[in-house]
Amino acid sequence: MSYPKLSALTAGMMLAFTAQAAEVEVLHWWTSGGEAKAAAELKKTMEGKGHKWKDFAVAGGGGENAMTALKSRVVSGQPPAAAQIKGPAIQEWGEEGVLSSMDSVAKKEGWDKLLPPVVSNVMKYKGQYVAAPVNVHRVNWLWVNPELLKKANAKVPATIDELFVTMEALKKAGIQPLAYGGQPWQDSTVFESIALGVGGADFYQKAFVKLDAAAIKSPTMIKALDTYKKLKPYTDKNAPGREWNLATAMVINGKAAMQFMGDWAKGEFLAAGKVPGKDFLCVAAPGTEKAFTFNIDSFVFFKVPSKDAEKGQQDLASALMSPAFQQTFNLNKGSIPARTGLDMAKFDDCGKKSSTDFSASAKGNTLVPSWAHGMAMRSATQGAMYDVISQYWNDDKMTAQQAADKLAAAAKVM
Ligand code: GAL
Repeated sequence: MSYPKLSALTAGMMLAFTAQAAEVEVLHWWTSGGEAKAAAELKKTMEGKGHKWKDFAVAGGGGENAMTALKSRVVSGQPPAAAQIKGPAIQEWGEEGVLSSMDSVAKKEGWDKLLPPVVSNVMKYKGQYVAAPVNVHRVNWLWVNPELLKKANAKVPATIDELFVTMEALKKAGIQPLAYGGQPWQDSTVFESIALGVGGADFYQKAFVKLDAAAIKSPTMIKALDTYKKLKPYTDKNAPGREWNLATAMVINGKAAMQFMGDWAKGEFLAAGKVPGKDFLCVAAPGTEKAFTFNIDSFVFFKVPSKDAEKGQQDLASALMSPAFQQTFNLNKGSIPARTGLDMAKFDDCGKKSSTDFSASAKGNTLVPSWAHGMAMRSATQGAMYDVISQYWNDDKMTAQQAADKLAAAAKVM
């Protein structure tokens, strides 16, 4: 073989193996201050790899609007390259036969060894990776404005009883105790933390993961529902329909003292330049110190028409799992890396606490999936449960017993 021929062959091979820069369309719902900062990191990473980022952002906390937009795109045969989809919904999309396997990347990079099983199991459909996780959010947090508590001479509540004492003291001092966003996913986010505080992790597991009818109708559930409803007088009249980040802004700006919310709220505090431990406190939702409700954000990959597009997806999958991305992204997002063994030195005390509590709760069997954030049940069941909780919150005549009965019926919706 002569020299010129060899170089022509090499050039040809190079062309075949160097995929063109792809346009990678990614669906997500990260549009609030802290969320947008985190999403910008993702875009930067992909552009750094020579791909063109096509943003498919659909506003609306919790992602309900985004999921509706996604369904219509998939039905019309034009799915995005990747979409923010979580928990059992990944299996539901897998069943539709529209997902693309990322197993070659996962095998090459050893994802099975990098992820705790509680995370990796959710990312696979029929044993193959179809999704990449970016973080672990903790949902059972209470965000506190310490200055307002000080003004009311109230203490940071560690138990549910203390919560009511603190809220009463705040109310007497003319301070709005709770920042509340009355939207179905937020109602269930708050209820979930209260139910965990009232009943503990075993009860939570039985009622919301196993969907055990006896647990759903138990006196513990009635107590959880009663306790949840008792929060209402401590919320304001503008709560209905309020977005979660506007509720967080009330705590940030001293308009309300506390908010029950997952740690994406921390992203808002940080984006506003607030310092944890000084301007705001993160504490476990009252009565849930030893437990951890997890919510893992992940991106799912859809079948795409070209090799270039596939290469773009694989680069995205690899970028999402890279240590550099998992660090920077989570420093902005308020969550902790999904990958184990990363250095937490740059994280603040809330992040460090989340990381320690995640491991401790896994050992103590108090690590539970957040049902309000799509981690525990099929989406139809979750939707039916949302409806009951919001109806109960909004209808002053509905009793806890009636709500529990309706929850038991909702648990059967598949
Ligand atoms: C959650 C999601 C978080 C955060 C939150 C509010 O479901 O996992 O990443 O975005 O909604 O939008």
